[in-house]
Amino acid sequence: MTALRIVGPATALRGEVSVPGDKSISHRSVILGALAKGKTKISGFLAAADCRKTAQSLVAMGVKIDNLGQDDMVVHGVGLRGLCDSGEVLDLGNSGTGMRLLMGVLAGQNFTTTLTGDESLRRRPIDRIAIPLAQMGIKVTGQGERCTPPVTIYGGQPQAITYHTPMASAQVKSAVLLAGLYADGTTTVIEPGPSRDHTERMLAAFGAEITLDELQVSVVGSPELRGQEIVVPGDFSSAAFLLTAGLLAPDSQVTVRNVLLNPTRTGLLDILQRMGAEVEVANRRQVGGEERGDITASTSELVATEVGGDEIPRTLDEVPILALLATQAEGQTVIRDAAELRVKESDRLATTTKMLRAFGAQVEEQPDGLVITGPTRLHGATVNSYGDHRIAMTAAIAGLIVAGETVVEDTACIDTSFPGFIDLVGRLGGEISPNEAHND
Ligand code: S3P
Repeated sequence: MTALRIVGPATALRGEVSVPGDKSISHRSVILGALAKGKTKISGFLAAADCRKTAQSLVAMGVKIDNLGQDDMVVHGVGLRGLCDSGEVLDLGNSGTGMRLLMGVLAGQNFTTTLTGDESLRRRPIDRIAIPLAQMGIKVTGQGERCTPPVTIYGGQPQAITYHTPMASAQVKSAVLLAGLYADGTTTVIEPGPSRDHTERMLAAFGAEITLDELQVSVVGSPELRGQEIVVPGDFSSAAFLLTAGLLAPDSQVTVRNVLLNPTRTGLLDILQRMGAEVEVANRRQVGGEERGDITASTSELVATEVGGDEIPRTLDEVPILALLATQAEGQTVIRDAAELRVKESDRLATTTKMLRAFGAQVEEQPDGLVITGPTRLHGATVNSYGDHRIAMTAAIAGLIVAGETVVEDTACIDTSFPGFIDLVGRLGGEISPNEAHND
């Protein structure tokens, strides 16, 4: 099992870096590229395990991809109805996004496909996709009550529906919209809150007819999707780890360039502002329908805040690192309405609590959130990632800012979303090394 060792505290973390491409946009770019006619050139593709699995699944279904899994790829689209039966079980590894989005696509095929994943993905609920697909007339079978993987999708002719999602989930919304590409007429998704909107933005760019009305999005079936050039911006969720190091280490200033600034993703920026953090955004620009810019974070004194409601889907993947920030903020930070975190790569309310407590943090787990009291002087600890990349990286950043030795166990998962994490921390002056005792 791989592990990392950090001896803190780091001071004077400084520099300008770029992070790898956005995970959500990378998945969608290769999927829509495959379903389009003509070539889709993708630069800045996240060449990490999760997105590679999605690309490999499409290759297994007959899509040709040049430079598969590199950050510059060309997808030779086969058209909406050009995929073929792979004849094998497709393995999406750790990727909930890959599995759930592909299920939408598979709903419209004239063949049956089984999808599986690693131990973590095989624990995650897929009923949230099976239920709307059943309403569209498509049968999905899985394991147990929550329809966990392996799941089998009996492709066919989806019927257009209007679906009210029970939770703000971009994966659910996207699966229904992708199945809607194969339906006659208009498929509509209405959400209880604003989940990330990359699917609808990218579908529109590829030529689909998309209508938006606040929390409602509709797609008209059988569009002619045309190949595009996509330049994937840096992943805000990855940048958040480096920016946190810049905020919490003394005498530091960290700039992450070319980061996605889509407002459905940047809830953490608003929260940081309320917490009194010194964070600046420069060079805001639109590229290919998504805003990007450079973010600079400097050492800051933080105050506690309350986070809930619509801000949660906009901060979803940043909650573990936000919890670390809150341990250093004056007062009680309350995070609520975040029960969705329990069905991520790990139960992130439980794993964030356990991990931060090992460092000496005051964290209380609530059914739908966390209460963190700060500031606390944290100390080095030996912690486990529970196989969750965001817990592993939050723990590594915690190790960097505290005094003493920290060992983070089970860290291979970092590669699912942020290859080069350790090198980039190193370029800012922070040292994270493989822990020889644990690496075999
Ligand atoms: C994602 C959606 C989010 C997020 C995940 C990526 C996506 O999950 O947690 O990391 O790319 O659609 P939800 O489906 O809960 O929004």
